[in-house]
Amino acid sequence: MSGTFADESTRVRARLVVLISGGGSNLQALIDATSDPDFPAQIVGVGADRADATGLDRAMRAGVPTFVVDPKQYSDRGEWDRALAAAIAPFDAEWVVSAGFMRILGEAVLSGHPQRIVNTHPALLPSFPGAHAVRDALVYGVKVTGCTVHLVDSGVDTGPVLAQQAVAIEAGDDETSLHERIKSVEHELLVSVVASLCRHDVQVIGREVVFS
Ligand code: GAR
Repeated sequence: MSGTFADESTRVRARLVVLISGGGSNLQALIDATSDPDFPAQIVGVGADRADATGLDRAMRAGVPTFVVDPKQYSDRGEWDRALAAAIAPFDAEWVVSAGFMRILGEAVLSGHPQRIVNTHPALLPSFPGAHAVRDALVYGVKVTGCTVHLVDSGVDTGPVLAQQAVAIEAGDDETSLHERIKSVEHELLVSVVASLCRHDVQVIGREVVFS
């Protein structure tokens, strides 16, 4: 599929749209990686669900077009979801990367990019899905947590797992310190998964993702 290099002279970099809600450190990791022309993907658009997502500045500094589709401006979730799908569509993306996008994607977005949406999550799924994964892991008292990069389906952090990395919880950790350590691991994991997805044909069989 797209992103496969026939040979060096005809190589095509896969087109990525990245969705964010906040500071965008994962977006920055992707911006840095894709600034290398040998990286198999390029970021063609960055979308947010709020105009004050500071990660949008990172995209603008990198010269990447941005868009905002704020649910507050729509009467219901379905209308917002269709507007988001319509905003993403013109970018003609092979992959959509949810990198700190704190909303559940709906049917319009999912059906526009079947098995082609990737999410990064700051816990070892299926433990601690949802919006407060780092806090939930601390409250539970686990000794090891981490991050998961997975394909997005209609559930909350339930899609097939692509890669995971463990992070030990240290004495004295609070949500901020732990999240920072998870993010430093997460950045590398996300970049390497995106590279793999764009370098290979990808087939999803049940919960298994096969690269060839
Ligand atoms: C990341 O740790 C990401 O995994 C998490 O938000 C953070 C965004 O950081 N996402 C979720 O919790 C989704 N459930 P960033 O804006 O600095 O990339």
